[in-house]
Amino acid sequence: MNEHKKIGLFGFGTVGQGFYENLKKHPQLAASIDKVCVKRIDLPRIGHELYFTDDPNELLLDPALDIIIELIDDAEAAKQYVHTALRNGKCVISANKKMIAESLKQIDQWHNQFETTFLYEAAVGGGIPIVHTVDGFLRDQEVLKIRGILNGSSNYILTQMQLHQWSFEKALNDAQMKGFAERNPTLDISGVDASYKLSILAYHAFGEVFSMSSFSSESIENITKETIKKAKSQGKKIKPVATIERTEKGIVCTVKPEAVGPDDELYSIDFENNAISVETLISGKHIAAGKGAGSLPTGSAVLEDLKRLLSSYSYQVSKAIKTVA
Ligand code: HSE
Repeated sequence: MNEHKKIGLFGFGTVGQGFYENLKKHPQLAASIDKVCVKRIDLPRIGHELYFTDDPNELLLDPALDIIIELIDDAEAAKQYVHTALRNGKCVISANKKMIAESLKQIDQWHNQFETTFLYEAAVGGGIPIVHTVDGFLRDQEVLKIRGILNGSSNYILTQMQLHQWSFEKALNDAQMKGFAERNPTLDISGVDASYKLSILAYHAFGEVFSMSSFSSESIENITKETIKKAKSQGKKIKPVATIERTEKGIVCTVKPEAVGPDDELYSIDFENNAISVETLISGKHIAAGKGAGSLPTGSAVLEDLKRLLSSYSYQVSKAIKTVA
């Protein structure tokens, strides 16, 4: 891909605007936003120079567009747009963890079936470059375990409750105001959002598609002042921890609040930060940390995917893929 590429962007919310702001800082890139499809065309918004439409077909059926970037929160519509765009020979970038996690079997087929590229770094860990690291750098390694904080909102809520004795409601409200939480924050606090992200990482790390029912998740809503006090008296902090591990009984996947001590790499990961440790047989534990939610960090991951597309990068997904019931 050398000549200038035209982008059709679906969605101009928290992540869409973050991507737009990041892209503006890189005028040297051989790509620009040509059209933006939004649900409500009448809303006042930034990006006055952009062309907005509320008709998805204006993007999907436009042969002049080379790249579709899908940043909406409706997983069903997102899947339809992504599939149509790939079928029409366009390269696609998405940040829709729910859609990706729930469609991994099909996405696995799409990776093989279509000549075009589909990337989704921003779906996991906000600005942390973890999907392509696991897919590429660790592709020839046997991964034993992935453990981390994969939801910025729940980490932010627990941090504020522990540091400043905020109530759960006040902390959640603030996480929503700052653009960390989903439109439906139940997904964040119940552990489901982190389960989506874990299943995407597991697909690349283990070469297996896990059904969402194999993930057991526990909400942070049940964390009380007493739980926090008890953990503090032991020198610990409560963190929303997501783990997937090979055990003798098979793969175990959990997302739950855990009390972690200062010797744990997750202890100092506060506020909306995420951290992911990937344990491999040969090279041990690899740890990545950074901002896991928010407009600019997540938008920067979309921009990084765009740069990868422009340099003809694709996922390897090279481990033998099998489906686990
Ligand atoms: N709601 C998500 C979170 C946004 O809080 O982590 C980033 O995926």
